[in-house]
Amino acid sequence: MNSLTFRLLQVYQQVVDSGSITAASVTLSLSQPTVSLQLKKLASLFDMVLLEQHHGRLQMTDAGKAVYRCAQEVLSSQARLDSHMRALQGMEVGSLKIAVVTTAKYVVPTLLGQFCREHPGIDITLKVGNRAQIIERVKGNQDDIYIFSQPPKDLAISAKAFMLNKLCVIAPPGFDGPDNCSLGALSSYKFLLREEGSGTRKMIDDYCEKHDIVFKKVMVIESNEAIRLSVATGLGLAIVSEQTLQHMRSDDVKILNVSDFPLRSAWQIVTLDGRPESLAASAFSKFLLAHGDVDKQH
Ligand code: PGA
Repeated sequence: MNSLTFRLLQVYQQVVDSGSITAASVTLSLSQPTVSLQLKKLASLFDMVLLEQHHGRLQMTDAGKAVYRCAQEVLSSQARLDSHMRALQGMEVGSLKIAVVTTAKYVVPTLLGQFCREHPGIDITLKVGNRAQIIERVKGNQDDIYIFSQPPKDLAISAKAFMLNKLCVIAPPGFDGPDNCSLGALSSYKFLLREEGSGTRKMIDDYCEKHDIVFKKVMVIESNEAIRLSVATGLGLAIVSEQTLQHMRSDDVKILNVSDFPLRSAWQIVTLDGRPESLAASAFSKFLLAHGDVDKQH
């Protein structure tokens, strides 16, 4: 027994649209007998006459009109599905969940802006937190892509460096204390440090531990912006990522010449092993690698 197929509907729609079996057979690259046979099969499914000859033209009966409406709906729905699938393959739609450590928010949004313009159909969410908070998100498998400069060492993750991150020592503009010195030589000054759990703080703590440096006076400030502004107003010295200074006046703070500085690390694209990579995530990851500077600068 015959059943209704896309092909039958397609042939029927073409016959109606082109007004004759001959014209439809040309468009469909089928022989006329094949087209006639398909029409017969379709009509026999309903046991109804679908098309009649009227003054030499084919005209739809009421039953034929009903089948034509069905063909329109089914075939246009199929076309929409096709284009949706093509779009998915071309990464033009889909969702992308990104979580970045606070300092990376100076780097990622600009790149994200360009990526969004190139892929307007991708629905993106961006979470920002300090290193410890973003590690918790990795553990909970909450996002497609994470950005760290200090990726966690004890989790099953993959990491790819895409952009340099440099930490420098900053002082108020009028600072007249030691310059061209070691970090240890500045340890009696008050240092404004990020909170425990911050990746920037971890880099500083690791460096100080390695070089036996203990800051005499420390003030914890949980924001790069607040640290920068506090240094500018004379509250103390700080160690920040150079990227946090990008959008300020160059004379707001003074970058000191400190041996070993800038401390270098790299922003890394981190993914949790075992999470299937979406097309959107792989496109964004490729985009970051293509727009980063890790291979261009040393
Ligand atoms: P943070 O992270 O914003 O938590 O300091 C920065 C980093 O990981 O380098």
